[in-house]
Amino acid sequence: MKKIFSGIQPSGTLTLGNYLGAMRQFVELQNNNDCYFCIVDQHAITVPQEPKELKDNIRSLAALYLASGIDASKSTLFIQSEVPAHTELSWMLQSMTYMGELERMTQFKDKSDGRDAVSSALFTYPSLMAADILLYDTEVVPVGDDQTQHLELTRNLAERFNNRFGNTFVVPEIQIPKVGARIMSLQEPTKKMSKSDENLRGFISMLDTPKQIEKKIKSATTDSEGIVKFDQENKPGISNLLTILSSCTGKNISELETEYENSGYGDFKGDVAIAVQNLLEPIQIRYKELIESDELDLILDAGAKKASKQANVTLNRSKEKMGLKR
Ligand code: AQP
Repeated sequence: MKKIFSGIQPSGTLTLGNYLGAMRQFVELQNNNDCYFCIVDQHAITVPQEPKELKDNIRSLAALYLASGIDASKSTLFIQSEVPAHTELSWMLQSMTYMGELERMTQFKDKSDGRDAVSSALFTYPSLMAADILLYDTEVVPVGDDQTQHLELTRNLAERFNNRFGNTFVVPEIQIPKVGARIMSLQEPTKKMSKSDENLRGFISMLDTPKQIEKKIKSATTDSEGIVKFDQENKPGISNLLTILSSCTGKNISELETEYENSGYGDFKGDVAIAVQNLLEPIQIRYKELIESDELDLILDAGAKKASKQANVTLNRSKEKMGLKR
């Protein structure tokens, strides 16, 4: 049994990318491991959020975790801002994070690009993420592959702290799914699918209706070659759709290439749309039952309590090592 931690930002409704790259792994892992799953609302506020929308997104994300199969009797589900140890340890880790390390983070470069006002919290985001992970003595962090660089920094910070102050943190490993580790935008298939993309046709939200799913997939950018073949460099759009179909059906890519050898893009896209609809339909049904329920609040209350207990043990241990306690 391993300690697992991962988080998702309530920065919009989850996309198919978040589900295939992250959430689906969580559901599998919870059966034989000690899992902590977090709604990382303090990460979300590193870029401007409307308060009412943020509140709704936090609740919606909690319901989506459960609707996707997170079982509160097996996993601890909680909201980051309800466990103050996260920001406390984050500050301590910031004092050991170098400017140069943060400047190299590609997510910071992407998210700050073209913005007039960039918050200092967006810059120090990786130190908060390191705190999230290290507080739970996490051994494995299941994420999409866009988080590899942040995870590497987390490992470096844990090792740096341990070397300087003595053994304090577990150094975590990253776990990335074999297929679906990076689902791309449907409109710009060289760019990652993101829930905060301004182009609404670029992503499939987990709450999109079957009609919306079909429309978005049918209008996905492809190429003029007319051959269903995986070639990420020359055919990023078709390769992305093949990845989505493979992730949704469990068939491997070469099997799918053979299956669609004599098909046009229209038929192929139609099947991708059906596969995504079938994947999301049961989740959406369960989501509707959960979103207004009191059950959701009870689960989040219990989750915050359990997470705080574990997090405070690690926080106190690291404070002691740093010389912060009386
Ligand atoms: N396109 C993707 N393909 C596979 N995995 C993905 N993840 C995100 N996008 C994809 C994984 O989802 C988890 C939660 O991500 P997050 O919400 O904490 O942050 P993010 O990576 O910045 O996700 P978004 O959707 O792009 O959010 P915004 O638009 O707010 O920045 C992570 O494990 C991530 O790897």
